[in-house]
Amino acid sequence: VAQSTAQTPPMGWNSWNKFGCDIDENLIRETADALVSSGLEDAGYQYVNIDDCWAEQNRNAEGRFEPNHERFPHGIKALADYVHGKGLKLGIYTSAGTMTCANTMPGALDHEDVDAQTFADWGVDYLKYDNCNNQDRPAVERYRKMGDAIKKTGRPMVYALCEWGENQPWLWGRDAGAQLWRTTGDISDNWASMTEILDRQVGLEKYAGPDGWNDPDMLEVGNGGMSDTEYRAHFSLWALLNAPLLAGNDLRSMPPETTAILENKDIVALDQDWAGVQGHRVRDDGDTEVWTKPMSDGSAAAVLFNRGNSAATITATAAELGLSSSGYRVRDLWSGAETETTGTLEANVPSHGAAVFRVWPATAPVAAAPASSSYPAGHG
Ligand code: GLA
Repeated sequence: VAQSTAQTPPMGWNSWNKFGCDIDENLIRETADALVSSGLEDAGYQYVNIDDCWAEQNRNAEGRFEPNHERFPHGIKALADYVHGKGLKLGIYTSAGTMTCANTMPGALDHEDVDAQTFADWGVDYLKYDNCNNQDRPAVERYRKMGDAIKKTGRPMVYALCEWGENQPWLWGRDAGAQLWRTTGDISDNWASMTEILDRQVGLEKYAGPDGWNDPDMLEVGNGGMSDTEYRAHFSLWALLNAPLLAGNDLRSMPPETTAILENKDIVALDQDWAGVQGHRVRDDGDTEVWTKPMSDGSAAAVLFNRGNSAATITATAAELGLSSSGYRVRDLWSGAETETTGTLEANVPSHGAAVFRVWPATAPVAAAPASSSYPAGHG
């Protein structure tokens, strides 16, 4: 039985959103240091993922990837050792094509076995496999080939498809050996991009679960193009969707407001709930929406989301959250305030904001207690 690498959605960091091709081994080391010193590691962030542009333009004499001589002079194995020494894991990137998307380094198409083995030899723990320069060859075949190649190495690696949702990877990703699959094109650091990606997750919830996650792309939290209110909404919704939580900002210079978002343990707990039931939208009233997610302990999470340009009062009923009890304990996961209610949540939500609640039934569901008459006499 293959070792499970993504029982819950992977958490960590990726270089692309903030740094693009401007990466080197110092950045990766300093980011690993910052993951630990900032408290992110304690909050569950584990992967340090190098995105595009880490390799020389051409393969070496052995036909293998060659780390960029100027920017990664000590190679990827040394980085993996460093990252592992901190209790973290290392991720890497290439494309199921002839070149990667930035066109600066080779892709792995038709080199799957040697490339997967190279990554395994280096101690890589996670591969993001992109879709550029794919020569119009069938996606399922290209992605399955790398999935098989990874398996052959015997090294457990998270296999993340970056196919942008073009061929419905939620239908075949698991079968190709992947633990996650991008559902859309790239996120950018603005409200319009984030909400457009969000809308495209509606209906995909039924395909997600332990070891197979929909990936609405990496986080933009802290990159400066949105307000902290918008970043809190982005982070809340990504957690509700069981998205991989891959920070995409500069961890070495995070303001406390950004750290507080990424390290909100109650929000992270929604994403990391062991049952892995992806949340979904239960109400769409135009500018205001309600999203909910059942939790493994019988509670439910609710995101009251305001897309409008002014503050709005949003309500949700316990029934909409799939709960039926006579009373509830409620925690506001951004303020920490705890209250009780008999069945209706209500919040005044700022423009572009999200209120997030976790709701526990005060009484055990009736069905949980078997009628004593169903037991044969003499038992119990
Ligand atoms: C594609 C991917 C991005 C990123 C870039 C790198 O656009 O979707 O996430 O990896 O390539 O070039």
